Amino acid sequence: MYNKEQKNNLMKQKSFYLTTPIFYPNDKLHLGHAYNATIADIIARYKKSKGYQVYFQTGSDDHGEKIEKKALSLGISSQELVDKNVELFKKLWQKLGIEYDFFYRTSSLSHKEKVQNIFQQLFKQSTIYLGKYQGNYCIACEDYVKEKVCPNCHSETKILEEPAYFLKVSQYYQQLLDYYQKNPDFLIPTAAKKELFANFLQKDKIQDLCITRSDIKWGIPVPDESKMIIYVWFEALCNYLNSEKGEKMFANEDSEIIHLIGKDIVRFHALYWPVILFALGRRLPDKVIAHGLLLDPKGEKASKSKGNVVDPLKLLEKYPQDLLRTYFIAKISFLQDGNFNEDLLKEFYRDFFINNLGNLCQRVGKGKIIELYENGIVPNFAETKNVYLWNYYQTCLTVIENYQQKMDNYQLTSAFQEIENLLNASNKLIQELAPWNLFANKKTKLLNLTLNYLRNGIRIIAFLLTPIAPSSSKVIFEYLNLSPDDCNWENIKNFQLIAGKKIKFLKEPLFPPL
Ligand code: MSP
Repeated sequence: MYNKEQKNNLMKQKSFYLTTPIFYPNDKLHLGHAYNATIADIIARYKKSKGYQVYFQTGSDDHGEKIEKKALSLGISSQELVDKNVELFKKLWQKLGIEYDFFYRTSSLSHKEKVQNIFQQLFKQSTIYLGKYQGNYCIACEDYVKEKVCPNCHSETKILEEPAYFLKVSQYYQQLLDYYQKNPDFLIPTAAKKELFANFLQKDKIQDLCITRSDIKWGIPVPDESKMIIYVWFEALCNYLNSEKGEKMFANEDSEIIHLIGKDIVRFHALYWPVILFALGRRLPDKVIAHGLLLDPKGEKASKSKGNVVDPLKLLEKYPQDLLRTYFIAKISFLQDGNFNEDLLKEFYRDFFINNLGNLCQRVGKGKIIELYENGIVPNFAETKNVYLWNYYQTCLTVIENYQQKMDNYQLTSAFQEIENLLNASNKLIQELAPWNLFANKKTKLLNLTLNYLRNGIRIIAFLLTPIAPSSSKVIFEYLNLSPDDCNWENIKNFQLIAGKKIKFLKEPLFPPL
């Protein structure tokens, strides 16, 4: 627990606003969507543990042609369709342990009003102008494209030719370049930035964006126009600003704003969204993080339109929430594309949860001799010259530092590897010092220290795992006779913290076979 002074210090800390994209509720969500929200949740939980005042927003992108068409095919209204699917989204978030603060819906009345105001304001200042769109449109991506076949999702596109309003993206070209120059880490990873610059952010390539549609009805009407609705991406991006708390975050230069997105929607977040914010005279987010995509075995992006997706709700009926969460961070190298299949998931459970983490707790909590030794009371901490213990202690301290540094820099998979480093060091220490031999040879002092160090190692592992695998870390804390609240960043290096506590003997493995 934090004391009063620590709490006050934490209260003064920065606000942290984290968003997922808002998801299309034309259907239920697949594993790729679950990946995005889980990573966001891990970041949000970590930031909370650091004392940030976190505001975590997710939601649904209710409008657009894709949804209108789907509802029509089902013979229900678009509103009915999205309401039904949003319930499934919320169920999935609950099963995955996604602790969001607000679920934003673009079919809400307040969103409509705010978007129309934004549209009008930009029109009055001539950032929006009336023109004519001539080109193709991909319904699956809700994107204006030039090609007959969508370069992104490969579905067939339709031809559009209609009067339309445009956003003057080109007017902000120089301002964008300057912004990127001053804030080189605004968009990560570098590969995403390179691609954006190569394909869109160039003098001869930058184009104004068509932001209205005339051939569909399911959307927000353009003010003073009878037939037009506002392009779904234009209004969807405004969700970040339009929520009550989001608005406050954007009004505050000091708050940290992060959009976590998949790399397939970089252009919208790192080109159009900054332009809308520039035009509104608002600050920009601090960072757009574009993660990789979950691919199918053929190396293609998993997507509903390709029919190669995995249903996360079904997976969660069979496997623990923490397994999926931990797999995402451990096995899909953050910011790179990754693979998923059930065999890999099961293999990871065996390797990490059973053979590594579970086994370590078992060895330190149940080994025959150790079980009887001092009735499981954790001995006192002391520094020692024993080279194995000294090295182990240093490893613990280094892991704590490295983990934070990496989490702070969004090197998530690498941060997870720090936990694995400590696990490996713990198992190695058991081999090196063989506590059962220390017991047999009556080397009591060394045995006491070894048990203190190892149980603290496990405490540190449990703490570092908290944002990633909250239930599993709770189970380990229980085994150490601690509550998750007993540990924090202030006392994590204190090896005396658990001295005198009686650990629980493990009759059953902490992580049973699946
Ligand atoms: N509605 C838009 C976002 C508007 S935000 C102002 C949208 N929705 S989506 O449902 O199609 O995608 C939502 C998120 O899921 C995106 O970040 C997208 O990158 C991500 N993913 C979709 N398929 C994915 C994978 N196969 N793998 C990882 N993430 C994937 O785009």
